[in-house]
Amino acid sequence: MARKPIIAGNWKMNMTRVQATELIEELKPLVKDTKNEVVICVPYTDLDVAVKLCEGTNIKVGAQNVAWAEKGAFTAEISADMLLELGTTYVILGHSERRQYFGETDASVNARLKTALAKGLKPIVCVGETLEQREKNRTKTVIRKQVMGGLAGISEEDLLNTVIAYEPVWAIGTGKTATSEQAEETIKFVRSVIAKMFTRKLANKVRIQYGGSMNPKNVKELMAMPNIDGGIIGGASLKAGDFSLVVNYDK
Ligand code: 13P
Repeated sequence: MARKPIIAGNWKMNMTRVQATELIEELKPLVKDTKNEVVICVPYTDLDVAVKLCEGTNIKVGAQNVAWAEKGAFTAEISADMLLELGTTYVILGHSERRQYFGETDASVNARLKTALAKGLKPIVCVGETLEQREKNRTKTVIRKQVMGGLAGISEEDLLNTVIAYEPVWAIGTGKTATSEQAEETIKFVRSVIAKMFTRKLANKVRIQYGGSMNPKNVKELMAMPNIDGGIIGGASLKAGDFSLVVNYDK
């Protein structure tokens, strides 16, 4: 069965509620006719307003992290139940900015993933190498470790509810996109690691996105690659026009 393309916006720490309202209202009519899955991953403070505005539309709302613990003394963390009560569907885990600035590790990503899955949130697990790692020819070693550590111990059913995002750190917010060949090669490698952990059949069913300066200009070429099933979009998701062009890349 073909894997349904999934285009997710990652707003990062952008958009107040007032700005979010404007952006979503502008976006709704622009993406309403797509057959692709559309997700916007918004700051926690925008979740309720985003869910309300997207009700009855084809836009799903996601968060950008979730606590591994169910509740308790974890200052500033947000639990899965809190997200679910607001109507959140997806959650980004292990974004490179979380790894780089907030000490996120494969183990913490794995713990958050297990909680998200147990609670019924749909995770988008991010992996990706830095420029230094790529230049030292360590891309595959790094990616293998992140995929195996991040996905360790989840069931086959859980795997099918999980989306993987390959985001080379050097391509994030830099305007420097991985070439479609580079992205395809690494995403194919991610799939082979998953095949070893689970089965080839399951690996062929998992959706794997590309992220890193994806925009209306390069989306078509990236999406033409056989292993690339979608995109996770930062900068270009903050403008309704640009994001909708990415979503509607096949129109
Ligand atoms: P940019 O599209 O701004 O490069 O960000 C990509 C990203 O980090 C999405 O999660």
